Amino acid sequence: MKIGVFGMGAIGHVITHSLGHHEADLLFFNRSLKDEFRLKFGKIIIENPIEAITIPRPINGFEWLIVCLKEYHYEKAIPWLQKLVSAKTKVVVIRNGLDLKGPLLPYLNPSQILETIIDAPTQMNSDGVYELLRSPKLLLPDNSLATEFQNLINQDFLSVRLVEDFKTKQWEKLIESASLGALLALSGETCWIFEDEKVVALYGQLIEEAIQVAQKDGALIVSNFKTQLIEKAKKYPPEKGSSMLTDRLSGRQIEIDAKSGVISRLGKRYQISIPLHDLGSVLLGKVNKAASMER
Ligand SMILES: NC(=O)c1ccc[n+]([C@@H]2O[C@H](COP(=O)([O-])OP(=O)(O)OC[C@H]3O[C@@H](n4cnc5c(N)ncnc54)[C@H](OP(=O)(O)O)[C@@H]3O)[C@@H](O)[C@H]2O)c1
Repeated sequence: MKIGVFGMGAIGHVITHSLGHHEADLLFFNRSLKDEFRLKFGKIIIENPIEAITIPRPINGFEWLIVCLKEYHYEKAIPWLQKLVSAKTKVVVIRNGLDLKGPLLPYLNPSQILETIIDAPTQMNSDGVYELLRSPKLLLPDNSLATEFQNLINQDFLSVRLVEDFKTKQWEKLIESASLGALLALSGETCWIFEDEKVVALYGQLIEEAIQVAQKDGALIVSNFKTQLIEKAKKYPPEKGSSMLTDRLSGRQIEIDAKSGVISRLGKRYQISIPLHDLGSVLLGKVNKAASMER
């Protein structure tokens, strides 16, 4: 069995480690040179030489291709991905956002693509090692492709759960991460800002807007979801950040279309007024523009 991991960043490292017992069959793909696998989890550092393929060329015979890219990487990556897949390849998409199959549908049958929700906070530390901060978890839709993929994973490391209402789970994650992420990334501050009731009120409004869109999109959001999220935010450690804040502070592109951007777009489609998410996606777009000019 030949397995490809496409995108050897933070999540590519976590997934590769979870497939450790298939190591002999793994091929790695990355835009820039990656010749070392370095993942730290707790006190353990796993280091191995790897040879990531960086030059786009056709390679046949993949049974699985696991795509670990950010939402905004897809446009440039697709021509290469097309060279690696056939009608027999099963493609696992690991990224934030909604409609994970969308960018691949012109080239693949929907039944070949597995959507996922990953919870695996991982960032590169000052030694250039990807550091996984909590035990990783993967949620999958309850179908036969997911069961096959679950069987590839070392679940002592990465726990996998199949869920019936995958869409609702995707929305639950999105509502929280987009609403909290927008407040932190736009203020440039960590969760200490939730000490201020005015910020809590804004958070509540962002959540309410997102819930309206989620429900119209078919998600079954429980009636006390907003209260649950607010209580959770008030208990976060003051220094807790978010991936959007980290991206902003480090001058990296923020994944807007996997967060406020997709909520804003669907709000327009369903004709629901969501001024705060619209404002967030426009302003975060300016943050991205300014960062790209500085890079
Ligand atoms: N990191 C986390 O804690 C975390 C947690 C949960 C979910 N997620 C989600 O998981 C997804 C992946 O995130 P990540 O943190 O792993 O991102 P990342 O660290 O930036 O990794 C992306 C990798 O893809 C490579 N890449 C980009 N464009 C490519 C192309 N055209 N061809 C080949 N390789 C390409 C990049 O190469 P370069 O080395 O050249 O940049 C990089 O190594 C995102 O949607 C993110 O939101 C992340």
